[in-house]
Formats: sequence, C-alpha cells, structure tokens
Amino acid sequence: MSVNTIGTQKIGEKIWTIVVAAGSGTRFGSPKQFELINERRVVDWAVETARAASDGVIVVLPATHAQSESGVVGGSTRSASVRSGLAAVPLDASIICVHDAARPFASEFLFHEVVDAVCAGADGAVPGLPVVDTIKFISNDNVVVSTPDRRQLVAVQTPQAFRAKVLRDAHASNPESTDDATLVETNGGRVVVVHGDPLNRKLTTPEDMNWARAITRGEV
Ligand code: CTP
Ligand code: MG
Repeated sequence: MSVNTIGTQKIGEKIWTIVVAAGSGTRFGSPKQFELINERRVVDWAVETARAASDGVIVVLPATHAQSESGVVGGSTRSASVRSGLAAVPLDASIICVHDAARPFASEFLFHEVVDAVCAGADGAVPGLPVVDTIKFISNDNVVVSTPDRRQLVAVQTPQAFRAKVLRDAHASNPESTDDATLVETNGGRVVVVHGDPLNRKLTTPEDMNWARAITRGEV
C-alpha cells in the first residue's frame, strides 16, 4: 500500500470507476456478463472489486437491466458505453478508471497499481502482459506485411486509470476504439504500463467461461 493511502482512499483524490457491461457477447453467444461463476454473475465479480478500490462506481448496462440495477444505459459500441458512464461520473472525480465487466478476476491490487501510476504523474496507466506469440501485421488478403519486435509489445488489460480531465477530453469528439488508453494516446497523453495479471483474463468465448469456472473450483 502506498504512503498516500488510507484504507482504499488516496488523500486528495476522488477515484471513480466505470464498469462497462452493456455488450451483447457476440463471440460468446449471449451477454456473457450475466453468466454465473460460482453463483455470482460475471458483472458482479467485477463490480465488487471496483467498489472496494474506488470512491464510487458507475455500472453501464443494457437498457433491459439498467433501471432495475441502478445502472446507466450503454451504447452500441464499447466507447459509446464508456461515454454513457462518463456522463454519470461526478465532476469532482479526479481519477477515473474504466473496467470491463468481462474481466471478473481483476484484483483490488491491480486497481491500486494503475491508480498509483496516475497519482505519480501519468495521464493514464494500463496493465500489460508480455506477448508470448510472434505477432504479424497482415494485409486484407492475408499476406504478411511486417513483424514487430515482440519485446516492444504488451497485451493490455483493464482496469485502465486516467486523470479525469484527460479521459473526458479524449472522449470529447466521440471517437471509437477497443480501449480507452488508445484514445488518450491519440490525444497526446502519456500512458504508462504496469504489470498485468494472467488471472485477469477477458472472458470472450465459451472456452474462457469454462476456464473461469474451473479456476473458482480449484481445477486449474
Ligand atoms: N461493452 C459495452 N458496450 C458495448 C460493447 C461492449 O459495455 N456496446 C462492454 C462489454 O460488456 C465488456 C467490455 O465492454 O464488458 C469488453 O467488450 P467485449 O469483451 O468485446 O464484450 P462484447 O462486446 O459483449 O462481446 P463481443 O465483442 O463478442 O460482442
Ligand atoms: Mg465487443
């Protein structure tokens, strides 16, 4: 725990987290965030940790769930859903984290790691893991164009933490990306990488869900 921390609160900072849970789970086959892992829904795992690590949490949900669960209604893309959440975050929030509901096993420690990096002066911070496969850039007709140096690559996760104004500015022109760090980088922000966690896997396919259930049963 860092010296500027009392419990989960950082002195002088108001930390809010947006949990995006408004996707349709096309690759999974249904809205995966409402599947049960050990009798708790995937989204509930993510929200519980976010609450422990933040002063406040906004949960972004499909229109069918938002009202009954005190959430806000998401949009048709992840970035639009983040903006729905941003509109509900109080203006006195100084650091905003964005977290995928589809990552139920993010730790409270990981939230603290990304928040601490922003407290230390970064515009944004993301968890990253070394890439184990060789990655290729390819053309539309599946021809290899080039191969980046793997040592310069990381696979990034959520939670991603940002200075609140930096994140709001990055979203101001309604841009689209699969994560928020990309929008902040594009806007000239300095985003640092902290150590990611292999357990913090995003549940995308049925195989991922089987893995998650096996983990909680102690089978992996
Ligand atoms: N998400 C969201 N609103 C969207 C799209 C995605 O809130 N319009 C959320 C998802 O619920 C998920 C996170 O963003 O928690 C990461 O997205 P992803 O894993 O791609 O989930 P889905 O978009 O639901 O899945 P798919 O892409 O297979 O349809
Ligand atoms: Mg998606």
